[in-house]
Amino acid sequence: MKLYAISDLHVGYKINRKALEALPPHLDDWLILAGDIGESQEHLQYTLDLLSKRFARLFWVPGNHDLWTTRNQNDENDEERLRGEEKYLALVKICREHGVMTPEDPYTMWTGEGGPALLVPLFVLYDYSFRPGTVAEEDAVAWAEETHVVCSDEYSLHPDPYPSRSAWCHARCLYSEQRLSEIPAGTPLILINHFPLRERLVRLKRIPRFSLWCGTKRTEDWPTRFPVSVVIYGHLHMRATDYQDGVRFEEVSLGYPPQWRQERGVEGYLREILPGPQQSFMQAGPIWHW
Ligand SMILES: [Fe+2]
Ligand SMILES: [Fe+2]
Repeated sequence: MKLYAISDLHVGYKINRKALEALPPHLDDWLILAGDIGESQEHLQYTLDLLSKRFARLFWVPGNHDLWTTRNQNDENDEERLRGEEKYLALVKICREHGVMTPEDPYTMWTGEGGPALLVPLFVLYDYSFRPGTVAEEDAVAWAEETHVVCSDEYSLHPDPYPSRSAWCHARCLYSEQRLSEIPAGTPLILINHFPLRERLVRLKRIPRFSLWCGTKRTEDWPTRFPVSVVIYGHLHMRATDYQDGVRFEEVSLGYPPQWRQERGVEGYLREILPGPQQSFMQAGPIWHW
């Protein structure tokens, strides 16, 4: 019995979808899905139909792509017109129909090898605070545009009913902090979020200003303020393991077809979270998973 994690399956790509279909069953194992399964409700439905038959339990958090409104107002498919929180809650509903745990559900305890550990799915988004102190928040997107970098979320991820994605992020942070503070002391936690919880994990050498769309400084101290053993995230499409302050950080993305090796299959990209790596030391820099 093992606890695995993967993110950024992006099943809108046929290659990714076929690879997922070839994943062997893991009937005793649990799997964490850390966001960016795809863009539509159909993508989530398809993925959970498939994976709920191959794993004992599933856990899900939304990625930015999952939250996109993929159709325009004139389209006939009402489901895909949903915006912001309505889209999020529609995805939560699909998860619940499949028995999949979401950031809106009670937390689940892992009691297998490497445990106990409480699995905490989170949805805390980003607020443009991963930027230099010399750039004002209202200038942040223009600052990224100077280098021809703009995340598609600016056009496709609507914050309704919140006035902005930052406001939605802040509301989600307050909700999550409240729930974290209610967990009885002494329980080791595994935090699961699509976006990295710390700015220093965002190492985008080619497009550094994309950092705006990668998280919030509000979560910087969560891994140490709460008794966290592992943080699981994706979004960057740069698979890595980091150790910081005695906490293991796992970037577990698959990514777009050119970003992973097809001969390894999806199986080759399942990251074992627990019992976990047998490390006798904690490396200072990142361990990259190619
Ligand atoms: Fe992604
Ligand atoms: Fe993402």
